Amino acid sequence: MTADLFSSLALRETELPNRVMVSPMCQYSCEDRDGLATEWHRVHLGSRAVGGAGVVMAEATAVSPEGRITPEDLGIWSDEHKERLAPIAEFIAEQGSVPAIQLAHAGRKASKSRPWEGSEPLQPDEGGWEVLAPNEDPWPYENESPPQKAMTQADIEGVVEDYRAAAKRALEAGFEVAEVHAAHGYLLHEFLSPVTNDRTDEYGGDFENRTRLVRQVTEAVRDVWPDDNPVFVRISGTDWLPERESWTIEQSVDLADELYELGADLIDVSSGMLHPDQQLPQEGSASQLPLAAQVREERETDIAVGAVGGITDAEQADELIREGDADLAIVGREHLRDPYFALHAAAELGEDVEPPVQYDRGF
Ligand code: FNR
Repeated sequence: MTADLFSSLALRETELPNRVMVSPMCQYSCEDRDGLATEWHRVHLGSRAVGGAGVVMAEATAVSPEGRITPEDLGIWSDEHKERLAPIAEFIAEQGSVPAIQLAHAGRKASKSRPWEGSEPLQPDEGGWEVLAPNEDPWPYENESPPQKAMTQADIEGVVEDYRAAAKRALEAGFEVAEVHAAHGYLLHEFLSPVTNDRTDEYGGDFENRTRLVRQVTEAVRDVWPDDNPVFVRISGTDWLPERESWTIEQSVDLADELYELGADLIDVSSGMLHPDQQLPQEGSASQLPLAAQVREERETDIAVGAVGGITDAEQADELIREGDADLAIVGREHLRDPYFALHAAAELGEDVEPPVQYDRGF
């Protein structure tokens, strides 16, 4: 049976009403540098649920304070964080969308200012903090990098437990999908790639060792996540560093299958951002879509695949699903331009999708 953009997708016992997902997008909008969700998050995510996306995923939400990219990032390291997120998840679900949350740790890319403030590294006396990473090599900033600690075994165990606790809180807050963020040069990706991981213990070296942390984190999340609900993992399909020993699409396919065996249901295939020397085959993020298609083609398990990067119109998204290149079309910036992307796409594709009754006279 061929699927299309507006067919539902059952993952475990959770039914996604259509194949459009709002990609997680940091808003850097916590007001008191406390990681607590604000009205901005509620309206931003709520609007996109009103807009008809099948899944609305909250931005990279830090599992610990030092796991934030910027001091203004969303967090989920206490019950107060959970309580602030709960009404957002509830509103998303009331609109018929599946509420989802991305759980994140920024590793060596933590402790910097917001994009509109230059994404500059922040020192502890500027509101920054010591960052955690597989080793002491910092991101090659032009300015002085924040202090960085090569993680001990205890630090690693701490991160796994932070993920477990974060997932438990996310569930209690009402989210139905948890996504492990293992892409974009953040902590878990730093462990995956030999470019950033030269550890000599059981977390560095060969594929099994470099993938150990993401496997342990996925297991910890799956452990507290209900059997009926899906777990996603976002990876960078490649580092785009072909001239070095780096993370490749072949390894991504193998990892996707291993994660499926550990209880992950969907692999969300992004790419790069591990190192500034990356060589993208073309400008922008559209070069990621073939990576997702390759994972879907070469996987040996039934893991579902999400494609992200440069999806901007209905026909393109529908084709990805119809051609079997992906199970889920993940749309980022087009959702910033048009919160109602899914409703507009449904109209364009001639689908019988109802807008909210309040908007009947507008659509
Ligand atoms: C992002 N992106 C991103 N990715 C992620 O995994 N977690 C995040 O929190 C963020 N934050 C974020 C903020 C903003 C403002 C943008 C524009 C992007 C990446 C995003 O999810 C997506 O993968 C890319 O934007 C590529 O998809 P599009 O935008 O081409 O559809």
